Formats: sequence, C-alpha cells, structure tokens
Amino acid sequence: MEKIRLGVIGTGSVVREIYQHLYFGSDYSHLIDIEAICDVNEKGMNEFGDRYGIPRDRRFSDYGQMIEKVKLDAVAVNTPDSLHKAPVIRALDAGLDVLVPKPLADNVGDANCMIEKAKDRAGFLGVDFHKREDPRIKEAKTRFSNGDYGEFQSSVWYMLDKLLVADPNYVPRFFASENFASENTPVSFLTVHMAERISWDFTRRVR
Ligand SMILES: NC(=O)c1ccc[n+]([C@@H]2O[C@H](COP(=O)([O-])OP(=O)(O)OC[C@H]3O[C@@H](n4cnc5c(N)ncnc54)[C@H](O)[C@@H]3O)[C@@H](O)[C@H]2O)c1
Repeated sequence: MEKIRLGVIGTGSVVREIYQHLYFGSDYSHLIDIEAICDVNEKGMNEFGDRYGIPRDRRFSDYGQMIEKVKLDAVAVNTPDSLHKAPVIRALDAGLDVLVPKPLADNVGDANCMIEKAKDRAGFLGVDFHKREDPRIKEAKTRFSNGDYGEFQSSVWYMLDKLLVADPNYVPRFFASENFASENTPVSFLTVHMAERISWDFTRRVR
C-alpha cells in the first residue's frame, strides 16, 4: 500500500503530547509520511522538525505555500479550534483530504462551512473522535442497538481517563501548568467525547 503523504499544519501541544507518537511511533506510522510541516511559531516547529528530521525546505510558516509547493495527499490541521476553518477550506480546495482534532470548530457556522466545502469538493473531512473506536463504547452501542437496555431514558457515564502530568519540567508547560485544571476542566476537555457518543449512538434511536 502506498503511504499517505501528510502535511501537518500546527505543531503545538496536541502534536507534542499525542500526535507525534501517532505519526512516528505507532502501529500506523508505516502508512504515513510526514512530507512537510507548518506553524507560525517557528521555534516550536523547528523543535519538532529537528527531532524528526524534516528537511528545512519542508518547513513553512504559511500553509498556503506548503500546499502549493509540496505534493501531498492530506493535511492534519492542528491549529486552535477557532482557527481550523481557513486551513481546512484551503486544503479541501486544493483537493486534499483533511483530518482535524475534536472539536471541529468553536462555533456552528465554521463547522457547517467546512462540512459544506467537503461535500462540495467530494473531499474527506475527518474529525478525530477516537472514542468511536473504543471497544467499550462499541460494545455499549451494540447492546443498546440489540435492545438489551430497553428504551433510552437516561444514561450515566463515568470517565475513567485521567489527565496525567506529562513532564512538569517541559516548557511551554501544558498539562503541568498551574492553571490547567481551572482553565481546562475534564468537562470541556474530555466530556466532549461522551457528549458526541451519546448524541450519535443513543439519542438518535429515540428521535
Ligand atoms: N492539546 C491536546 O491534548 C488536545 C487534545 C485533543 C484535541 N486537541 C485539539 O487540537 C487542536 C490544537 O490544540 P493544541 O492544544 O495543540 O493548541 P496549541 O495552541 O498548543 O497549538 C496550536 C498550534 O497552531 C499554530 N498555529 C496557529 N495559527 C496557525 C496558522 N495560521 N498556521 C500554522 N500554524 C498555526 C500555533 O502556533 C500553535 O503552535 C485544537 O483543536 C484542540 O482542541 C488538543
């Protein structure tokens, strides 16, 4: 199978904490080549680029230039929620597939705009709701679909994930930041996965 030629737009916290392992150290790494990277924060981008040997001429501060100059199949748009729309639209217009971390946007208008563009371009726009593949969630869905739980009335979810302090000495500080818990409670940070599963798998059946 040919590898997917991927351009990474945004190399901030989610890449540092999570996606670098997917790109370079996972069971799926042999399926992708990180062809180019882009970030307006040159220092952070170069740290990432130096660690993984991304050539200097494949590092960009402008995603439009990256898309124009490098032959790509897809981009991963890892910019903040409020800044997903422009690079997603640009990539779809260039005929590329796009993967975005959850949530797709911080407002419904941006989300609809990206979805409409993907339909218009017949492109792939994926949102990384990885809990969809969690075997426990899939089993609950199957049981529910089989009618094992009867009619849906209410559900109680317990979150077993915990926020780990990755490296208290790492700068810029993220999970280890003093105000992380007050600024990013699990309600906003992880409960989005539960809300997405409930709305997709469960409420849909009783509408
Ligand atoms: N951090 C996590 O653990 C985590 C987990 C799940 C989902 N997410 C999602 O991942 C996305 C990114 O979050 P983050 O925590 O990495 O944010 P972040 O602020 O740490 O990183 C975002 C990066 O995007 C760069 N950027 C901004 N505008 C740009 C542009 N025009 N072109 C190129 N680069 C640009 C910034 O310089 C920064 O390096 C968000 O949608 C967030 O909700 C993050």
